[in-house]
Amino acid sequence: MTLRFAVIGAGMIAAVHADALTVLGAGCGAELRVIADVVAAQAAELAGKYGAEHTADVNSALTRPDIDAVVIATPSGAHAELAIAALRAGKHVLIEKPLDVTLDAADAVIAAEQASGRTVAVVSQHRFDRSTEKVTSAVNAGQLGALTSANASCAWWRGQSYYDSAGWRGTWALDGGGATLNQAVHTVDLMLAVMGPAVEVSAYTARLAHERIEVEDTAVAAVRFASGALGTVHATTAAYPGLDASLRVFGTRGSAVIAGDELTFLHTSTGPATEIAMSGSGPEPDHNQVTEADRLLPEERDLGPAHRAQLRDFIASVTQGRPPRVSTASAREALALVLALYESANTGRPVRLDTR
Ligand SMILES: NC(=O)c1ccc[n+]([C@@H]2O[C@H](COP(=O)([O-])OP(=O)(O)OC[C@H]3O[C@@H](n4cnc5c(N)ncnc54)[C@H](O)[C@@H]3O)[C@@H](O)[C@H]2O)c1
Repeated sequence: MTLRFAVIGAGMIAAVHADALTVLGAGCGAELRVIADVVAAQAAELAGKYGAEHTADVNSALTRPDIDAVVIATPSGAHAELAIAALRAGKHVLIEKPLDVTLDAADAVIAAEQASGRTVAVVSQHRFDRSTEKVTSAVNAGQLGALTSANASCAWWRGQSYYDSAGWRGTWALDGGGATLNQAVHTVDLMLAVMGPAVEVSAYTARLAHERIEVEDTAVAAVRFASGALGTVHATTAAYPGLDASLRVFGTRGSAVIAGDELTFLHTSTGPATEIAMSGSGPEPDHNQVTEADRLLPEERDLGPAHRAQLRDFIASVTQGRPPRVSTASAREALALVLALYESANTGRPVRLDTR
């Protein structure tokens, strides 16, 4: 079975989806049929590269009978409205991150998903990285022992020209936030996938290196998880010249570090852990179980392979009638944590999360 796709939005990330759908092709059950953008020239330019149809009539692309699945790749604050229109027309939907910018919008998508019986997934492509999969399976197998803490850090640089490149960037209404919701949400999502749900957050945010944006370019937060473990979030687009996004996870039997999508440290214990009374200035060299096979390949450094992996999972979830690996429920959790972080920064108080 081949799913015939419409891509809505023809900007930066839509190009990654168009390319991924073309590379996957019929062999993987994908056909890129139409690209729609409110800016007709934008749709025409991207569609031209991939031999797809194009239109500025977004509603027609969402509702055409020869479309089975829709990728929403527009500014974040427009995700829910478009996803709901597609679901009402009976389409399966893959939504770029974040799910939307408010919990009301996220819940409206979830309600439309349930009413339609169609599949909805939300992009969090780094869930499909080999590094993430290895850490998640070690954690699930109990090989890190009881998780005690985690650090999620996204220390990137975005020049003023990035924020000036489109009117929606850096606005509360359409970006929904700054470094935390737009950039660090990936690492926050990975942290939640590994650590389980968060129950409380206490945060500071600031705008330190950019002009003409409403949102933060720097945030720090302390997080308490339902398990009792603790975590930190550090999100910035003001770390010149741009460093990495990293997740560090610590447990009573092992620890793991993913930096720049690559597994750089892993220690697991499968039998009884050797007693270490005190660890001093760092792990012994033989404590790091990362092997050559864990190294990131040059071709894994761009967005393409991970997006292709998530699209493959989305197509398989539709054709096999199973849930996608990144569900709307888990995307809502990442959104809820980021929005609670903002509320805490605004009120100066810890904010509890509703874990439902
Ligand atoms: N997964 C990732 O790594 C990743 C990376 C970048 C962006 N994103 C997400 O992708 C989305 C788009 O980001 P971008 O950087 O591609 O933005 P962009 O500004 O480059 O492109 C957005 C496009 O959407 C079009 N558009 C706006 N409103 C529309 C509407 N109602 N209907 C149809 N088209 C509309 C615009 O004309 C523009 O061409 C955002 O939600 C962002 O968070 C995800």
